[in-house]
Amino acid sequence: MCGIVGYTGLDQAKDILVDGLKRLEYRGYDSAGVALEATDGAGDSRIDVVRRVGKVAGLESELVGVDSAATCGIGHTRWATHGRPSVANAHPHVSCDGRIALVHNGIIENFAELREALVRRGHTFMSDTDTEVFAHLIEEAYDGRPADAATGEPARPGCHDLMGAVREACTHVVGAYGLAVVCADEPGVIAVARKDSPIIIGRGERGSYVASDVIAVIDATRDVVVLEDGQFARLTREGITYTDAEGNAIEPAVTHIDWDIDMAEKGGYPDFMLKEICEQPRVVRDTLVGRMTGGELDIDELGLTMEELNLIDRVYVIACGTSYHAGLIAKNLIEMWARIPCEVEAASEFRYRNPIITPSTLVVAVSQSGETADTLAAIRDARIKGAKVFGITNVVGSPVARESDGVIYTKANKEIAVASTKSFIGQVVSLTLLALLLAQVKGKLTTGQVRLLFSELGNTAEQIQWILDTQEEAIHEAALACKDAHSALFVGRGMGAAIANEGALKLKEISYLHAEAYAAGEMKHGPIALIDRDFPVIAIATKSPVYDKTVSNLKECEARGAKIIVVATEGDEDIHKIAGHVIYIPPVRDAFSAITATVPLQLLAREVALMRGCDVDQPRNLAKSVTVE
Ligand code: AGP
Repeated sequence: MCGIVGYTGLDQAKDILVDGLKRLEYRGYDSAGVALEATDGAGDSRIDVVRRVGKVAGLESELVGVDSAATCGIGHTRWATHGRPSVANAHPHVSCDGRIALVHNGIIENFAELREALVRRGHTFMSDTDTEVFAHLIEEAYDGRPADAATGEPARPGCHDLMGAVREACTHVVGAYGLAVVCADEPGVIAVARKDSPIIIGRGERGSYVASDVIAVIDATRDVVVLEDGQFARLTREGITYTDAEGNAIEPAVTHIDWDIDMAEKGGYPDFMLKEICEQPRVVRDTLVGRMTGGELDIDELGLTMEELNLIDRVYVIACGTSYHAGLIAKNLIEMWARIPCEVEAASEFRYRNPIITPSTLVVAVSQSGETADTLAAIRDARIKGAKVFGITNVVGSPVARESDGVIYTKANKEIAVASTKSFIGQVVSLTLLALLLAQVKGKLTTGQVRLLFSELGNTAEQIQWILDTQEEAIHEAALACKDAHSALFVGRGMGAAIANEGALKLKEISYLHAEAYAAGEMKHGPIALIDRDFPVIAIATKSPVYDKTVSNLKECEARGAKIIVVATEGDEDIHKIAGHVIYIPPVRDAFSAITATVPLQLLAREVALMRGCDVDQPRNLAKSVTVE
């Protein structure tokens, strides 16, 4: 979950790389660096590497003093996996002679044994990273490899061809990589390789571009190649060629990107998180567009016939983090409406748990980024076991989309803030549609009932807008009540219990305040012991079949002096008797309450984080997509 970018063309590369890295910073911000191809007075070319711990802005100021006419270079923004954030561990990494430099997104699982062999064969390592082995492997393939007494392997001549050397090096590596490599002996050339890590390649009027995400190159081109696993590319000022692992020429498909760059700008908001929270009414509307045609629910991307759908007798939702919480909402709806057993599984556990899967099992993989490693691996595992896999993702052409039998795209567009908000709402709306369709196919809901529920689902867009327009003060006051706490509990019952999980995660990940979610009824079985004077208990107590039970649980907390903050249904005046702070949402069917009641919790977390001086868009230690196990 690093970001890599590369450019070779007619213009100076330095600023193009820095702008690209700024757009990719949501992928990791522990350190940043660039490698620029330079030519000295005698016309000899070399690689200048500039690296800095921390955000891209730091690298940018470091580069101010660097007068580089280089028109070819690569850049990286890092999310540390192997080796703590430091200049030595920052990318780009170089070969022993400094003539080969590379940036990498991914993890090399067998790096320890490769490193040991390379050291044995005389290479010197400058970092603790896994990535650096790539630089030395490419160096050996390019310049030649000495005999290895320990393995008895004979010396091997170098191929003195960057593409050949990169392909050769990849044959030794186990793991995931999005890789861009430059070499002083081949000025103007960038070699690119991809396996299980996103790589986008584009050709613009002023040159050739490579990046981890289209957002870094969209200014230059809207027609990009999403490189597939095992494919390689050679970028020059003049053009781009592609090969497979054997070096055979290939012609990958070109994808046209239809969203505009404004999506990647703050649009006048103080941060991306608030901007994206305020986009949620649009996300609900856009995700529902074209879903009810001729009075019938339409999810033809499902890739399953009505007969196959009717045979489904078990549903697994597999996901991580916030997407997992969307799964918790879906479980309630699928079991309530379609009467099909539904398990929600953390993808990182699912893949090692050997779950019971049969051909009539539907696995729903939910992922905003579409590239979360655990979710991808769980998909592959489920397919091997014979399940039908349906993907719900926000990124067109992402690995989750490509590796699922069918896919729905949440129409949230680009989500930049690391804390997922609008994509969660898009996921819940999409999962609600799936639950409605399963219920209709199973004959548990009539077409008329589905139409009624569909129109009520559509109303949640303006209900979110009402919350955004009217609850700012109440949320601010509630945040003031939480900002100095050391810990908080989020509680609810039924749908509220599922929503509480997302509320707690949002507060944890952006304000670094410890928070736990608990089914309200479970409080008295232990967690209530945590409560003392002023301990924040944030409750989802909207009108629902379990409202009264929730209120009585809150009274138990109030009796212990808890500071009670409640998300309640507009018009519920009684709730003020037990809650010091009340945030209202419009009346909504309990089944849809997750779509509206989550919004105040997103805003509350943001306010508390701002009051605690945290960076709400780029919280510490996190990255937007987690492409390693
Ligand atoms: C949520 O705010 C976090 N960004 C994180 O928990 C995220 O939901 C998780 O990493 C899953 O990501 P995905 O939806 O892209 O697969």
